[in-house]
Amino acid sequence: MTVDLVVGTQWGDEGKGKVVDYFSRNAEYVVRFQGGNNAGHTIKVGDEVYKLHIVPSGVIQGKIGIVGNGCVVDPEVLIHEIDELTKRNIKPRIFISDRVNIIMPYHRLLDGAEEKHLGNKKIGTTKRGIGPCYSDKISRNGIRAIDLLDKELLKNKLDIIIPIKQEIINSYGIDETLNTKEILDKYYMYGTKLKDFITSTHVKLNKAIQKGNKILLEGAQGTMLDVDFGTYPYTTSSHVVAGGSSIGTGIGPKNIRNIVGIVKAYTTRVGEGPLPTELFDETGKYLQKKGHEFGTTTSRPRRCGWLDLMVVRHSCMISGITKLAITKLDVLNGLKQIKICTYYKLKGKKIDIFPANIEDVKKCIPIFEEFEGWSDMGKNLKEITDLPKEAQKYLRFIEKTLNIPIAIVSIGPGRKETIEV
Ligand code: GDP
Ligand code: IMO
Ligand code: MG
Repeated sequence: MTVDLVVGTQWGDEGKGKVVDYFSRNAEYVVRFQGGNNAGHTIKVGDEVYKLHIVPSGVIQGKIGIVGNGCVVDPEVLIHEIDELTKRNIKPRIFISDRVNIIMPYHRLLDGAEEKHLGNKKIGTTKRGIGPCYSDKISRNGIRAIDLLDKELLKNKLDIIIPIKQEIINSYGIDETLNTKEILDKYYMYGTKLKDFITSTHVKLNKAIQKGNKILLEGAQGTMLDVDFGTYPYTTSSHVVAGGSSIGTGIGPKNIRNIVGIVKAYTTRVGEGPLPTELFDETGKYLQKKGHEFGTTTSRPRRCGWLDLMVVRHSCMISGITKLAITKLDVLNGLKQIKICTYYKLKGKKIDIFPANIEDVKKCIPIFEEFEGWSDMGKNLKEITDLPKEAQKYLRFIEKTLNIPIAIVSIGPGRKETIEV
């Protein structure tokens, strides 16, 4: 088997970009399978920093990037990202599934309108049109990449969809008029620009598997943002977990070998919704500042808290995670005491299963194990045993509690700041 998968186990921003870039060395194809440009994946190579939103992270290593059918694509953003990379001397080799759903201008408008309507109950979305686009996909009103190549078909679809969207936009009290002809011309033009990239990527990938080519599947977001298994309704709108990768690429589940769960050494969340181990004190601010915890896509500050193994255990179970990659361990340097949540207390009872009811999640009180901190860990460490003994103890506890081996420990944003176990 030649297909490996990387998924986030928390609320996104675990360092998937860095780890995918690291593993891409050994892959021929790197594939996004869900989400869209709500994602922001950072890759640091020397002094160069790349922030990718829809282009798969493997292109920085010169690998072929595939945007699988499970994604939603804003063509304007995709074209801009390709242009920006080209200017920086990275000519991305990319293919986009003919079946991806396209984020249309009315999706972005509706994302903003729905959030405004929710007021203080808002989700805190990235306002990139992700939810409205996935809603249209499921209700079979979507525009797919292949539709952008057939002007007649695109026109027929838009003639039906746009008047309905206009009414919904009006009902939200938004003063915007959708011009069908303008949208048709613009999106047909995007289709013309992207024509050479649009193909049946599921066929390409399955042929590659038969040839023995290595494929790396790149998750976006994290389990707690999964539309079924996350803190619904404070989630994104796609299937973030490992199972989503099969649906979102057309690669049969039996082909997947390693499922690597990325675990940030503490917890962050951007947007609204419960975060049981959130720190509202100086330590929370310390993690935010030291970890540069500001959104890659929206620049919003990320809320920070202790590592929550209730969350990671839930993720490992659902995705069948076979290996762990622990990231941002260096951010904990300098803390006197570090905590890990192992269980919650809910209505006076200890629980070890993540609740489905969002009101229950809000009431959960984390139960912590305490660990001695370490001062610094230095650079260019090669082995786990080069880490301070307190850091080794912290890692061993994670490994033992989850009963899953650690494959990678990341101690900085750069490629070299990685310890392979
Ligand atoms: P992603 O969405 O999971 O790809 O993560 P983001 O790129 O949104 O956020 C992770 C941030 O942490 C980026 O700025 C990375 O450059 C940075 N990063 C990744 N791994 C490490 C690490 O081990 N240590 C430190 N200090 N920063 C890291
Ligand atoms: P990466 O791939 C962190 C969050 C938003 C919001 C919720 C719904 O970089 O880890 P959406 O725009 O998807 O409808 O927003 O999901 N969110 C992310 N948080 N990292 C991400 O991606 C995210 N993508 C979406 O902040 O709370
Ligand atoms: Mg991110």
